[in-house]
Amino acid sequence: MSNKTKVIIYYGPLSWFDQCIGKKEKEGLLEAVFAREERLRQLRVVVPDQDDADKSEPKQNRPKRLVAESGDYASLQEHAITNFPGLIQALDPKELHLHNPPEHVHEHLKRIFADTFKVVSYDYPSVTRGTLTQFRDDFAHHLIGQENVKESLLAALYPLTRGTRSKPVVIMFYGPSGVGKTETAQFINGLLGGALMRKQFSMFHNEKFASYLFGGGHSEPSFAHDLLDRESGVVLIDEFDKAASVFHSAFYQFFDGGVFQDKNYRVDVGRSLVICTSNYGSEREIRDSLGDALYSRFDALIQFEPLTQKEVTAVIDRLVDSRFGALEADERQVIDAKQVKETLYPLTAHSANVRKLGKVTDELISTLLVRALLSQDATQPTS
Ligand SMILES: Nc1ncnc2c1ncn2[C@@H]1O[C@H](COP(=O)(O)OP(=O)(O)O)[C@@H](O)[C@H]1O
Ligand SMILES: [Mg+2]
Repeated sequence: MSNKTKVIIYYGPLSWFDQCIGKKEKEGLLEAVFAREERLRQLRVVVPDQDDADKSEPKQNRPKRLVAESGDYASLQEHAITNFPGLIQALDPKELHLHNPPEHVHEHLKRIFADTFKVVSYDYPSVTRGTLTQFRDDFAHHLIGQENVKESLLAALYPLTRGTRSKPVVIMFYGPSGVGKTETAQFINGLLGGALMRKQFSMFHNEKFASYLFGGGHSEPSFAHDLLDRESGVVLIDEFDKAASVFHSAFYQFFDGGVFQDKNYRVDVGRSLVICTSNYGSEREIRDSLGDALYSRFDALIQFEPLTQKEVTAVIDRLVDSRFGALEADERQVIDAKQVKETLYPLTAHSANVRKLGKVTDELISTLLVRALLSQDATQPTS
């Protein structure tokens, strides 16, 4: 009799899962499932009258290591997900390695393969005292102005440095557009490492948003599944104020203890940092718009001030200098950084325009480069 399948479930980013699996011989679960379906189909064609066709499934070599990645479950039929242990018993691999599976698959396998079942979770980067020091020292290199943000944020992050903490710190950044909210979230995430998980809530229409938050078919995109796949210790929910109020309750449990559960997936983000951004103007407005239940679940509300004209000018200087740094040497010779800056200053009388500054700067630089190129061609007749 063969040994029972060893089941190992992994929760974490794909790159980490790939490392865990390594280069040892493996076979994709999907390929194994499709091959089996093909065999069963052929069997029916060959022996159409045999009513116990399933029992006479031809013996295959026992797969050594079957592996499924987070994105693979979407390609399985709903019935394969519903009776996952049955599928695994039929394939009978020696080892089964599953990455970020649906909750139902986890629970079901745990019951059936109780004595071999194992879960491995990725250690997400978390805020340490060192992170706080770095944050304080580097803040001004990344953000212009916003001194109050620096102080309030340091205080808000502190609880994350306690090893005993098991739930997230949830912060709301609020203030006008283009004043550094997203930039600040990116800066903190950069200190921790891993590609930032950033979701823009304005990108969803209501119908899609409901299935994104509450779960739909197991192959549809979902917030819980995205959280499972994330690499970063920071979760950024941009434009939180654009989510309709019917969706607010989806966040109660998440903000309280870090657990987000939808119809298919469950995730516990633990000691992470969750940042929501919004364009609210005051705490009062946040409380009125979100309601007490949600408002009171934020650990901190941090206000971003509009930038002064001088600060906007400084943002432009930095931006243009960094774009120039990325140009080729010959390109840098034909255009003038000072001229680019001076063209941009008057465009930003309102800080709302700072938002589009990157794009406008790129366009302006390209226009100047093309112009320089064409006028060179005009003076140098081709031979
Ligand atoms: N205070 C600031 N310091 C430095 N750069 C800033 C600041 N505010 C905005 N920027 C720059 O302007 C652009 C838009 O900023 P962003 O952080 O996305 O604004 P928002 O507050 O709308 O999230 C980014 O390229 C960012 O680098
Ligand atoms: Mg933003």
